[in-house]
Amino acid sequence: MPELRSAQWYAGQDRNSYIHRAWMRRGLPDSALDGRRPQIAIANTASDLTPCNSHLDEVAEHVKRGIWEAGGVPLNLPVVSIGETQVRPTAMLWRNMAAMATEEMLRANPVDGVVLLGGCDKTIPSLLMAAASVDLPAVVVPGGPMLTGTFRGTPLGCGTDVWRLSEEVRAGTLSQAAFLESESSMIRSRGHCNTMGTASTMGLLAEALGTVLPGTAGTPAPDSRLLARSHETGRLIVEMVAADRRPSRVLTAGSFHNAIVALAALGGSTNAVVHLLAIAGRLGVPLTLDDFDRVGADVPLLVDLQPAGKYLMEDLYRAGGLAAVLREVADLLDPDAIDVTGRPFVASLAEAQIWDRDVIRGREKPVLPQAGIAVLRGNLAPAGAIIKPAAASPHLLRHRGRAVVFDSVEDFHARIDAPDLDVDANSVLVLRGCGPRGYPGMPEVANMPLPRKLLQAGVRDMVRVCDGRMSGTAYGTVVLHVAPEAAAGGPLDRVRDGDWIVLDVDNRRLTVDVPDDELAAREPSAALRAALARPSRGWQKLYVDTVLGAEVGADLDFLVGSSGDAVSRESH
Ligand code: FES
Ligand code: MG
Repeated sequence: MPELRSAQWYAGQDRNSYIHRAWMRRGLPDSALDGRRPQIAIANTASDLTPCNSHLDEVAEHVKRGIWEAGGVPLNLPVVSIGETQVRPTAMLWRNMAAMATEEMLRANPVDGVVLLGGCDKTIPSLLMAAASVDLPAVVVPGGPMLTGTFRGTPLGCGTDVWRLSEEVRAGTLSQAAFLESESSMIRSRGHCNTMGTASTMGLLAEALGTVLPGTAGTPAPDSRLLARSHETGRLIVEMVAADRRPSRVLTAGSFHNAIVALAALGGSTNAVVHLLAIAGRLGVPLTLDDFDRVGADVPLLVDLQPAGKYLMEDLYRAGGLAAVLREVADLLDPDAIDVTGRPFVASLAEAQIWDRDVIRGREKPVLPQAGIAVLRGNLAPAGAIIKPAAASPHLLRHRGRAVVFDSVEDFHARIDAPDLDVDANSVLVLRGCGPRGYPGMPEVANMPLPRKLLQAGVRDMVRVCDGRMSGTAYGTVVLHVAPEAAAGGPLDRVRDGDWIVLDVDNRRLTVDVPDDELAAREPSAALRAALARPSRGWQKLYVDTVLGAEVGADLDFLVGSSGDAVSRESH
């Protein structure tokens, strides 16, 4: 074992070492605090208010067994936890706060390594951002997806079917009573959303990045194999401390390349773009928005999962899981990127097999020949915007339509169903003021519900354009993350009702048919300015004053980069 960081707390004979040891003596044997046993934090996002993570205390117990077994000392460290469905205005507003708090607590404490327990959307990203910035040996245990619930004989996809069923009610094809009846079937078990939403995506991408014991991500939360893998992960982190295997060694440009290939092959959430950019920013890995298109565009979609497809996470696991998917595209992966075991990540794929070729397709028969996320530019998005073509309607990927502009979510809800709203199936719905700064946190409002009168006429998709995000469980021809955002002076701010908007995904263009000088000369929207948040204190003020654009990951400007694990001065 190398000289341990925690020895700077525990190994001495002086008064301060006495204090550090004495207060930890709550049944620990002397040998636990002799300065020679790795002190392993379990950064635990278990919380009753993050229901997708509420089972992580049990996971932590199994991680602890493995840590003890390998000679380490496990230490439960509850960290900021963010529940996607509960917190307002959006969980994303606190991703950076959770990352900052976890980073600082890991650095401030006598810790040599950390096991990161996450699940719900923002929890794994915030933990990985923290681990990258403190750069202590770190490994993730993704909490895993829920089992599949059914309603009237049909499997329900969490998130996705809420959007679908609520649109059916608005269209008049499902009763309100039946809609409410489905509520009790939506969440069948512990775990996170069972579609290929953000939580599933980030758990699987954490493994593709190399930060998870291979074969763990995607294990359903109630499956006993998750607990066995948790035990093994406990053993692994002690070995990682001995080998000094830190995030800066594991998370290389090659790891992010692999994550982008995985994102495309899985048909993963668009939210992965902002999360991967933010994690890379903590490590100084030069990842850009364009890398998602460059690396991912020609990767085939191999997984037929909701929201874009049919199956759910339980099906993916039984069909062979992430390894079976990535083995099909192993030639596209970086052969040198290592994982937490210290071996090349691709080596972990060697034995994988596809057990159900309806769920996981072979390379020769993909769901789509080209998946990935398309990065759009043009006079409406000079710094970029994204769209997930796999979740869009093919006939809308090349489209010209007149803008119907909304200056806030409230404005949208107040007018969208008005019978006299000047809108038709060819219109482009524009919602602005929803970027990281404008609606602090950048909420998932971009997949705007369609006007009721068009739904009733059978329209099921329209082009939508927004500077906000979309739930990873949602679908539709939605242009997201338009940058610069309207609140930061982006041109979206100067679009008017009736302007012609042109979407051309093949050519990666998003433009408004207004001459540049005329667009620049227009007054920014006064209604938008009035709707923008101006917090005067607290986290929200810090956030609004310092948040970066979505195109670079929406981290706070002063959190980009790493401060390492340096031990500070004594407390007494
Ligand atoms: Fe937690 Fe979907 S709400 S993962
Ligand atoms: Mg979400």
